[in-house]
Amino acid sequence: MKKREQWGSRLGFILAAVGSAIGLGNIWRFPYMAYENGGGAFLIPYIFALLTAGIPFMILEFGLGQKYRGSAPKVFASLNPKWEWIGWSQVMVAAVISIYYVAVVGWTLNYATFAVDQSWGSDPKAFFFNEYLGLTGSPLELGGIRWNILGACALTWLATWTACTSGVRKGIERACKVLIPLLFVLVLVLICRVVTLDGALTGLEFLFRPDFSKIADFSVWTDAYGQIFYSLSVGFSIMLAYSSYLPKESDTANNAAMTVFLNCGFSLLAGVMIFSVLGNMAHETGKSVTDVAGAGVGLAFVIIPKAINTMPMPSFFGVLFFLCLLMAGLSSQISIVEAICSSFIDKFGWSRKATVTVYCAAGFGLTSIFATGGGLLILDIVDHFINNLCLLPVALIEIVLLSWVVGLDETKTHVNATSDFTVGTIWKTCLKFVTIIVLGYATLRNVQGDFGTPYGGYGTDELIALGWSLIPFVLMMGVYLRNKQAAPTFMSTQH
Ligand code: ALA
Repeated sequence: MKKREQWGSRLGFILAAVGSAIGLGNIWRFPYMAYENGGGAFLIPYIFALLTAGIPFMILEFGLGQKYRGSAPKVFASLNPKWEWIGWSQVMVAAVISIYYVAVVGWTLNYATFAVDQSWGSDPKAFFFNEYLGLTGSPLELGGIRWNILGACALTWLATWTACTSGVRKGIERACKVLIPLLFVLVLVLICRVVTLDGALTGLEFLFRPDFSKIADFSVWTDAYGQIFYSLSVGFSIMLAYSSYLPKESDTANNAAMTVFLNCGFSLLAGVMIFSVLGNMAHETGKSVTDVAGAGVGLAFVIIPKAINTMPMPSFFGVLFFLCLLMAGLSSQISIVEAICSSFIDKFGWSRKATVTVYCAAGFGLTSIFATGGGLLILDIVDHFINNLCLLPVALIEIVLLSWVVGLDETKTHVNATSDFTVGTIWKTCLKFVTIIVLGYATLRNVQGDFGTPYGGYGTDELIALGWSLIPFVLMMGVYLRNKQAAPTFMSTQH
């Protein structure tokens, strides 16, 4: 039997796991979440979520992936063949994310070139929405293809294909060994410069000044948990796949803690970078930081370009900033695609090259929808539904099943046999109670919210077609793929 590939070194594995975790979510989601949810006071629920859910869940996934040496469907099938569908549903969540995530990475590639001469001009908002995206009035009205976006998406898929077809050690590990250290260096260079800009300290004060009145609001806590799950890439098949390539004797608990701390440390650095820039912009324009702050797409592609326009050496800052986003996004995209393809390779015994090639080609075809004038609106709906109503519930099913039905003892014994530090009652309590309560509440609240108020003011037909339909898609594909005949190698363990 062919032996499963393995990471070349511990450092290689950690850089790949950190590369998956650090992504667009850290740079444009974390700073704004922190600011919205009480600034410095948000760090309390965030660190609580990190300790009670982030690290325990990461240890659990690293332990399971390493023990069963397989991607998500294989791990769940090894526990009980009936549960294989859960693994496939997680893979389907990852598949949907991979299709639109690449579009945003493509935008950052385009913007890294625009930054050279600030092609966005004096009105970055009009440039982004009208000229660059050619935004239409409805997600179902596609408008034409934007060729420069499609070209950037093609390059991003090509880079992902190159890393994933070259294999775990020669492709993914090598790519992350370059991308991640470079990303940290670039962000540190940017920070050294931006914290000395006029007004930067006012921006940082906004980010870190604690507003303790928000802490009593439970939604701040569920936001912190949501951010931790998305940002750490847990609960949607990635970390199971990555840890399945760990050598048998490697440490899991310590690797998990390091991955979580590096990811969260990076989020803080990103917060410092973004809010220094916003503080400077507020200073230059005579507005308050509240007036210039924003989230998501608007932050990266409108506000940051506006801020770059007001800075000294705009080309230098602009190119560096978008290169950081590009590297963070690309290393996450590679991990998402690897998690999907390794599932098909495990189950059907297909070759890596053929699987990755077919997936990237099909992915590129589907991504082209995000290169149309309706792309941003479609992305907005798909992103909201897949994260809030698919990713979190599937992660919840995983954790309830593992901690209450399967039990955590076997994984605990496996983890403790190899790790620098051991896990016990606290680890189990965090998973069995704390994580389940907060995740369960967050899921209920999300479902309630979306039933009560149509998301984003979109029409019901648009939300059904592009949002709600994802739930049956993820579940039905999970069951369908579970029922497909597996290759004889699927369940044979390769310890
Ligand atoms: N963990 C990745 C991110 O933060 C998906 O973007």
